Amino acid sequence: MSTININIDGKEIQTQEGEFLLNAARANDIYIPAICYLSRCSPTLACRICLVEADGKQVYACNAKAKDGMSITTTTENIQKERRAIMEVYDVNHPLQCGVCDQSGECELQNYTLEMGVDSQSYSVKDVDRSSHDWGHLHYDPGLCIVCERCVTACKDMIGDNSLKTIARGADALNAEFKGSMPKDAYAMWNKLNKSVIGLTNGTDVLDCTSCGECASVCPVGALVDTHFMYESNAWELSQVPATCGHCSAGCQISYDVKHTSINNPEDKIYRVMNEWNYVSLCGAGRYGFDYQNADVTKDKTAFNSAIEAFKKADTIKFTSTITNEEALILEKLKEKYGYKLVNTEAKAFQTFLNDYSDISGTRLYGSNLKTTMNSNFIISVGSALKSDNPNARYALNNSLTVNKGAALYFHPVSDPIIDGLGKNILSINHKPLQEELVLYLVLDLFGDKEKLPADLVEYLASFHSKKTVTVTETIKEKVVEIVKEKKVNEETGEEEEVEVEKSKMVPKKVSKEVEVDDNRLASLLGMSEDFDATLEKFLKKKDSFSLMVGADLYTHPNSKNLARLVALVEKYSKFELVMIPTLTNSLGVALINELSDEVGSYSIGYNTKGDFTLSALGDGDLDMPAINQQEGTLTSINKRVNPTNAAIGYGGYTLNDIANELGLKAELTVEYTKELPTSHGFFSQDFDSLPNYYTNAGEEVRGYELQNSAIEISSDESVEKADESLCLEGELVYAANPVRQFSRFTNKATNLDEVSGLYMSEVNLADSDLNEGDSVRVKTENGEVVTTIVSDNKITGNIALVPSFDLKLNSEALFSGYRFNSASIQKV
Ligand code: SF4
Ligand code: SF4
Ligand code: FES
Repeated sequence: MSTININIDGKEIQTQEGEFLLNAARANDIYIPAICYLSRCSPTLACRICLVEADGKQVYACNAKAKDGMSITTTTENIQKERRAIMEVYDVNHPLQCGVCDQSGECELQNYTLEMGVDSQSYSVKDVDRSSHDWGHLHYDPGLCIVCERCVTACKDMIGDNSLKTIARGADALNAEFKGSMPKDAYAMWNKLNKSVIGLTNGTDVLDCTSCGECASVCPVGALVDTHFMYESNAWELSQVPATCGHCSAGCQISYDVKHTSINNPEDKIYRVMNEWNYVSLCGAGRYGFDYQNADVTKDKTAFNSAIEAFKKADTIKFTSTITNEEALILEKLKEKYGYKLVNTEAKAFQTFLNDYSDISGTRLYGSNLKTTMNSNFIISVGSALKSDNPNARYALNNSLTVNKGAALYFHPVSDPIIDGLGKNILSINHKPLQEELVLYLVLDLFGDKEKLPADLVEYLASFHSKKTVTVTETIKEKVVEIVKEKKVNEETGEEEEVEVEKSKMVPKKVSKEVEVDDNRLASLLGMSEDFDATLEKFLKKKDSFSLMVGADLYTHPNSKNLARLVALVEKYSKFELVMIPTLTNSLGVALINELSDEVGSYSIGYNTKGDFTLSALGDGDLDMPAINQQEGTLTSINKRVNPTNAAIGYGGYTLNDIANELGLKAELTVEYTKELPTSHGFFSQDFDSLPNYYTNAGEEVRGYELQNSAIEISSDESVEKADESLCLEGELVYAANPVRQFSRFTNKATNLDEVSGLYMSEVNLADSDLNEGDSVRVKTENGEVVTTIVSDNKITGNIALVPSFDLKLNSEALFSGYRFNSASIQKV
């Protein structure tokens, strides 16, 4: 795309050739009314209110593309008439219940009705029964629905569940005379609207999706609402606290909407979570898992004194990555002062992987981010259960497939119907656990620049190839000669007689023949089907931007060092842009700030994890700490951004900073450490209060700042180890992963997230065993055992069971030693 000049209402602006006029206008702060269009999604032309005149012709701004020199007028007399009629139509049979509607005060129907000056109604049609539907966490009222289809579009183009669609309304046809008498676009919009309401793609009235709530968030009216928020508060009573979601490494922009708890209780309560849905899409954990604060905590001086004594006695601090950058820095400073070992196993694995990667890449951090991934058109994902490891990575993948006509390869041992359902252009390769090294060799073999890759590696990759003879069936055209009888007049006798004539025609014929083809042993070792080459060839047509996403299965792999080096080689010697999915909320921040140890000493402090003395924001330790939604600070996201977050809920207890001050550090507030974050590792010396947290109208993320990805010294050694081809896990297996919407013990505290704990098994897996949902089982690996209950999970297939970490009581850690997969025996008890 090239930069071009267009003129909107007399204002010269620059945009990209082919950009939708609406996006070009928005990016330049020019207002065009628009209801159905969602940025980052395909236009649906449901509302038609975005009509503009471009070079003298009426077009829809949301799907007309910018051309150099174009002249656009956003309002003409005719367009005004259309827009007013469109709003009148939207108001036909719309119940007058604004006083009790959840959207009142932030309703686009109210706003546009007022803006278009609708003070009378010229149109009518008999209403039909449009009773409400209870869809679990959502409530749909078709009576309020204006069928803009934003919910359908968000679910299809952003989320990828594709759970909603328009279904027949069953209404009478519009009065024929409207066709001639009313503005053309308003009539066409109404005619379509009058035929439909929203229903479920599964054909039932039971919504079975990944429950993100994005559809309700984009609904311009009160038709689709979060059940938990229904009739809870008027929009104008709520204050918005700008924040960053604390549940995974996506670091999504959110606002906690708060007001007093009740007439009798002036304490703030979070009523809902909102987002800038044009630019960021939340998952169910971010949207609904908001009330995880450590509530009703007061300053317990005795517990605080015990904490100080424990710190004096301790030689180790164990902690998780659900911690702000500032808290991580406090721990680092305490380590420097008192020599503590800092232990965080998951962040240490990620840190080691990053360092091993840097040895070859020469950069501290991977080069790409999820926005680039979303804008690319060929994606490979390796080593991550995307759906629950980082839902935004799944959304980026889906958006690339649906909006960019992209294609993708998803390498993961756990087969996932949600990922498979993203479209026809995604191929899941469910290889065996521990084969991730072979996957990366395959990626290098298929896409690496053989001219530039180290010669040894090229030779090694060539060793996987041989020739084999296969029998292929071809359709050829064959000439067939037929003798047909025809009637002809005998010239001598003048009589008609039957004669035999030869006629030839070409007919298709299937023939088998033997051909010599390339046999790539890497593909067969990974269990890929014979037609993989043909599929890949099809997928790669017209593709020009490539992204690789890698996840925690690689960081915890026994050969992670080699894997990190292979990943660096892919980034360096292929067209793929690389993004790594940090394991937990702030694993990247911790990996950059803390010098971590492997060994726990003789006496430990635990922060949000069990220690000899435990500090806990979950309220189950020896001294309470504030949860992320009660803190000011920063979190480092997958996009390498240092995002600010604010406290939505008050906290009356002690903080880590109080302990640090008592131990000799000096800072009045935790956020005084924001400007001290290590610049040597890419952070900036910037005050917390100066950090922005918003998106521009052009969709630019102006949140905190992006880490500087500094170059680091590298050796010239680019050697990698050969793969052990027999390395894999088979038989009964378990995988450390959470179900959708549950990420940690914090989400498990949230009232609206009701996933139960247990061993998650697919329906296929259960059918193949003598186990049933609800059975109590003993899961045993060489590392340990746990007793838990079977949960049937229809969002995975195959025979690998998931062991979630969100429930402390389950003690999932006992079953694994690093790598996320393990062989297990699962016995009924
Ligand atoms: S439910 Fe809301 S978002 Fe969906 S079509 Fe109706 S009005 Fe539009
Ligand atoms: S909650 Fe999310 S996944 Fe479910 S229907 Fe709405 S947008 Fe789709
Ligand atoms: S915003 Fe363009 S048709 Fe609805």
